[in-house]
Amino acid sequence: MCGIVGYIGSRGAYDILIQGLKRLEYRGYDSAGVALVDTDGCLNVHKARGKVANLEQTAAAGNTNGTLGIAHTRWATHGEPNDINAHPHVSQSGDIAIVHNGTIENYAVLKKALAEHGYTFKSETDTEVLVQLIDYIHSENKCSVYDAVREALLQVEGAYAIAVVEKSNPDQLIVARKSSPLVIGVGDDETFIASDATPIVGYTDRVIYLKDDEIALIRRGEPIQLSSIHSNTPSKVDIQKLKLSLAQLEKGGYDTFMLKEIFEQPDTLRDCLRGRITDDGSQVVLSGVIDHQDIFAKAERITLVACGTSWHAALIGKRLIQDFCSLPVSVEYASEFRYSNPYLNDKDVVIAISQSGETADTLAAIQMAHDKGAFVYGICNVVGASIPRNTDSGTYIHVGPEIGVASTKAFTGQVTVLTLLAMAIGQIRGTVSRARVKEVATALRSMPEILEKTLKLAPEMQKLSRVFTYAHNFLYLGRGYNYPTALEGALKLKEISYIHAEGYPAAEMKHGPIALIDHEMPSVIIAPSDSLYDKIISNVQQVKSRGGAVVAIVSQGNKSMDTIADFSVKIPRVPECLTPIVASVPLQLLAYYIAVGKGKNVDQPRNLAKSVTVE
Ligand code: F6R
Repeated sequence: MCGIVGYIGSRGAYDILIQGLKRLEYRGYDSAGVALVDTDGCLNVHKARGKVANLEQTAAAGNTNGTLGIAHTRWATHGEPNDINAHPHVSQSGDIAIVHNGTIENYAVLKKALAEHGYTFKSETDTEVLVQLIDYIHSENKCSVYDAVREALLQVEGAYAIAVVEKSNPDQLIVARKSSPLVIGVGDDETFIASDATPIVGYTDRVIYLKDDEIALIRRGEPIQLSSIHSNTPSKVDIQKLKLSLAQLEKGGYDTFMLKEIFEQPDTLRDCLRGRITDDGSQVVLSGVIDHQDIFAKAERITLVACGTSWHAALIGKRLIQDFCSLPVSVEYASEFRYSNPYLNDKDVVIAISQSGETADTLAAIQMAHDKGAFVYGICNVVGASIPRNTDSGTYIHVGPEIGVASTKAFTGQVTVLTLLAMAIGQIRGTVSRARVKEVATALRSMPEILEKTLKLAPEMQKLSRVFTYAHNFLYLGRGYNYPTALEGALKLKEISYIHAEGYPAAEMKHGPIALIDHEMPSVIIAPSDSLYDKIISNVQQVKSRGGAVVAIVSQGNKSMDTIADFSVKIPRVPECLTPIVASVPLQLLAYYIAVGKGKNVDQPRNLAKSVTVE
């Protein structure tokens, strides 16, 4: 949540910052702002409520000169989204400006203390407190702004990635981080900083991932200096090569990123599977598991932790691990797990799943699992993010940048990796036969072609979306492997169309939610030809007999549902454990077309942000 970007070099900073903010807008779009330091000693700040486009309009009337600048796109945590609460925030002296991603938990105490020293505050934000604290230390201690930033951060509790500029110092940019991400792009005679690498792509492919508790002093024309915030000792500058292309960040002819990402799934699964199944299909090769065979052989229990869509993938992962590894498995919301005092020891494996790799609750759950001695395995998309760096081992899903706020290709990538992981652990533990691995791995390998066929349902789903313009509520029902698919289908619909939708295990419906069903409440029922198909048929009949319309997602060749459901959508047949991957595609399309039909901004739904770096 919130995106920060900064630039120091020889070009005009403004255009680079605006372009960077547009790339980071998925992280929050409540307000945007920019601060530019001009060589004639001016600090020009422009801010606007809403999207970056509003900021451009506001800034057009002002001075946008300067080759040093910082900028911010906000997902509001402290104070409502308005111009005053927008970042950058400027110190009372008018000398120091800051942008911040994260939350300062002890801001109220610090604010009170600063007020006693005569500081007043314009905004309701925690960030303004931090810049005033820096200002206070700078003037009281008569130290450099760099030292004041470091000293202030020692007094701060919470999470932050910050960038700081000083009006009288057009040659210096200071950045620091704890828990929130920050990447530095190293150009020939220029430096970029950002919350992720997307604003940097196209300028340089040399990046430094700032570590937790690190502060960087970036001075024009000088090598970057990294130090520990706590000990102030210099740390090693580790420049890595960025593997991200501009094409991956563009819409590629689609109307929206979400549609592009739905249609990318055959390719993203190809990338996700590459090199992970042997040529004869009889073995899964995951280096993250092979390198820690002993741990997986001796594990007594597995716990999956995640949030949102990743939590739905975790529920499918639980079924997969139970089926392939004969191990006790539980799934926890990371936000609950971290405060639940779970019993864990060194025989536990905790699997943390996260697209962004930055979700604060998942990171905290990882920390707790480590503290209790568990081995932590990460399943992430964003390379170099905090979760892969804070886990003992892991597997990237390699689906490329997911920019649409609603997760689509990451979900299918996560389920694919979980399928591979379950088989890889089962191989080590001897709980899965070679023949079974071969059956599932071969089907998995043909998944890109299967999804190509499934995507041909798009026109049918678009047509279907127009049938339900009357509906204010939807039920999504599924059983077994597809109960989590139902949850994910409902989440997709609610987050982008703002229609209330509930996912439920189909057989649980009769224990309460069935009371909701009438002719205005359609149900989407995921009913592929699996071991529970006969059972789910009676659940469909229960809905129909109460006047509810039914859209059934069934396997190709199914005829029995045609006479029961109002609409049956036919998906390719795959082994039962792979049905969630295929069934989720028409659900993504249905949600997408309903939301677009209602005129919603599917890429940036209200109140949401892609990377949830606050608790
Ligand atoms: C829904 C969605 C969110 C995320 C959740 C966790 O479409 O995208 O529910 O799944 O915020 O995010 P990650 O996976 O980045 O930890």
